[in-house]
Amino acid sequence: MKPRLKHSLVFLAYFALYSIPNMAQNKTITQKVDSLLNLMTLEEKVGQMNQYNGFWDVTGPVPEEGNAAIKYEHLKKGWVGSMLNVTGVENVRKLQKLVVEESRLGIPLIFGFDVIHGYKTVAPIPLAEAASWDLDAIKRSAQIAADEAAAVGINWTFAPMVDISRDARWGRVMEGAGEDTYLGMQIAKARVKGFQGDDLTSNNTIAACAKHFAGYGFAEAGRDYNTADFGTSTLFNTVLPPFKAAVDADVKTVMNGFNVLNGVPVTGDSYLQRDILKEKWGFDGFVISDWASIGELVPHGFAENLAQAAEIAANAGSDMDMEATAYVTHLADKVKAGKVSESHIDDAVRRILTVKYELGLFDDPYRYCNAQREKERLNHKEHHAGVLDMAKKSIVLLKNEGNLLPIKKNQPKIAVIGELANDNNSPLGSWRLGSDNNTAVSVLEGLKKFSSNITYARGPKVFDPEASFLNHVKINESDETGMDEAVALAKESDVVLIVLGEHGFQSGEGRSRTKLGLPGLQLKLLQEVYKVNKNAVLVLMNGRPLTLEWEAENIPAILETWQLGTQTGNAIAQVVFGDYNPSGKLPMTFPRSVGQVPIYYNHNSTGRPNPQPNVFWSHYSDEKNEPLFPFGYGLSYTTFAYSDLKIDTSDKNNIKVEVTVTNMGEREGEEVVQLYIHDKVASIVRPVKELKGFQKINLAPKASQKVQFNLTDKELGFYNNAYEFVVESGTFDIMVGTNSQLGLQGSFTLN
Ligand code: NOJ
Repeated sequence: MKPRLKHSLVFLAYFALYSIPNMAQNKTITQKVDSLLNLMTLEEKVGQMNQYNGFWDVTGPVPEEGNAAIKYEHLKKGWVGSMLNVTGVENVRKLQKLVVEESRLGIPLIFGFDVIHGYKTVAPIPLAEAASWDLDAIKRSAQIAADEAAAVGINWTFAPMVDISRDARWGRVMEGAGEDTYLGMQIAKARVKGFQGDDLTSNNTIAACAKHFAGYGFAEAGRDYNTADFGTSTLFNTVLPPFKAAVDADVKTVMNGFNVLNGVPVTGDSYLQRDILKEKWGFDGFVISDWASIGELVPHGFAENLAQAAEIAANAGSDMDMEATAYVTHLADKVKAGKVSESHIDDAVRRILTVKYELGLFDDPYRYCNAQREKERLNHKEHHAGVLDMAKKSIVLLKNEGNLLPIKKNQPKIAVIGELANDNNSPLGSWRLGSDNNTAVSVLEGLKKFSSNITYARGPKVFDPEASFLNHVKINESDETGMDEAVALAKESDVVLIVLGEHGFQSGEGRSRTKLGLPGLQLKLLQEVYKVNKNAVLVLMNGRPLTLEWEAENIPAILETWQLGTQTGNAIAQVVFGDYNPSGKLPMTFPRSVGQVPIYYNHNSTGRPNPQPNVFWSHYSDEKNEPLFPFGYGLSYTTFAYSDLKIDTSDKNNIKVEVTVTNMGEREGEEVVQLYIHDKVASIVRPVKELKGFQKINLAPKASQKVQFNLTDKELGFYNNAYEFVVESGTFDIMVGTNSQLGLQGSFTLN
């Protein structure tokens, strides 16, 4: 360790930083970075690769040595490149000032935070947003999140999570875009562009982070942090493309993950991080480890100790160490011992400094620290309007027998039942660290703005009121107090809205479940209510697909509302009373039972797909193969008819598919028109169906619209096992329709 620097050196540092790389405005960022790099000691370089958690909020287990005194010491030495979980203009300014004024070179910190779905104004959980299939609304939602985050001093969000997942048991499905790669790619781009905008230096944009590279969404048995084990074709064709889409959209950072893939923990995987991400894709931002994932190479049995873990991760291309203290403690020694080449260190630091320059932090380290802006931007009314729009578009109508929905506002007796109906906290969902508790508009509050004929009964208690981001939610499984009152109310009402589901903190990181039914006594409550009143509307709130077989069989109307954030009640009320016609489509398959999981629409065919009189075909003896609700499924208050499918193959490089969609009903509505392909015979087995295009259209009653899609090599090709993109001749079946199971079918042949 070096002794503390004298004033003359500090002065020199100021001169160096603010005169050499900065005043020479005509220099490119690359030149500025190189000039600065030349001034840095090895320890200072390694310092840039070190990220510490702040001293307030925690989003992971804190290592013992991560105490505040050491962190302050390191900040002053310039041994910290970034902080996470430090928010608020005052806090950010304090730490930035410490580093800029007291460290030798005064290199500003970059402040990262999990801005997953909004900051103070909370948007729907990402899985819900994905259900909108509305890329403009999703982009706008990320812009709002960035605007508020930047206003509290944050420069960098750890979002979007672009992990594809087929397993509803995994709690983090709430944070992604669901099971489909194509949809996931479009959403990844929209969210990166929303966060980063066109100008990263502006005070309402922040750097984005595509995570978790790669395969984390395939955690075995849906248990968080578990090993992932899948083949090359799935890696290349399913898991990697959303990351590639984010890189193509110029995402500034990528986070690796906790999981092992093919025996290699991804944090220590140089094939993924160096060969694919940085070399093949040309990614020029930096890679951040996940929380302590470098240290976790030790329990994985991939490194003997923290020092070796630092060596492996740095050599593998992990540029910044989140809170494992591996780099700051051991990396300089590893370089001196010749175990890590200094060129790897220089490359990592160049990447990190470049992003800091791009954010404008060298021009003004306090550019995101404006107290006035902080006051004005949080909870701005435009932000509330934006997340309300996003929320109503995220709702999926799963069933509507006899057109029970929408409900008439003047219906004399409307019963609202269920603890979640009267909850201002749970609808904010998981991962909403910047928000204040209990700030969602509850369903009850929203509904009451539309009708004064509403009476509420809670039913039995479901969730522990102390539920928080750090702990599991305790569930009442036995106390039926409240059941009788709710049933009595249902009995005397014209219609019952019953709001049931998961608590917002039952999904998210570290929250895997083996049971996917309604928690606690909620199903019993629903059954008792249904016995006395058949006009029951089930309003679901959940962060993942649930198993709802009895519910889907019996309850006439079901709305999937996920967790919709700050504007939850207002959005649901607009749909329930018909001011907004629901248009969402499921981004993940809903299973009938947990035993079917992982269940997803774009699976490969087995060799025995067809029912046989005997047992020797691919099926269950106690369950159907089909899901309860398929991917892409969602109804509207109107209906749409599909006709006139045309396939024009005159240009082999651009096959045109056209379909006519007609609104058959009496009210305006939006439809997500979906195009699926199936490459019938190929050198690698292709999925039975793959989404390759979608368009969300709005149709007036009785109006028709022609919808066109183009199929080019990009849509028709795939990656072979050598990671080469190939387009093969042969026959393709196509389907254009309203969900992954229903549509007009055709085919064409590529020669
Ligand atoms: C661990 C999570 O896996 C990651 O997604 C998150 O960004 C970090 N913790 C920081 O909170």
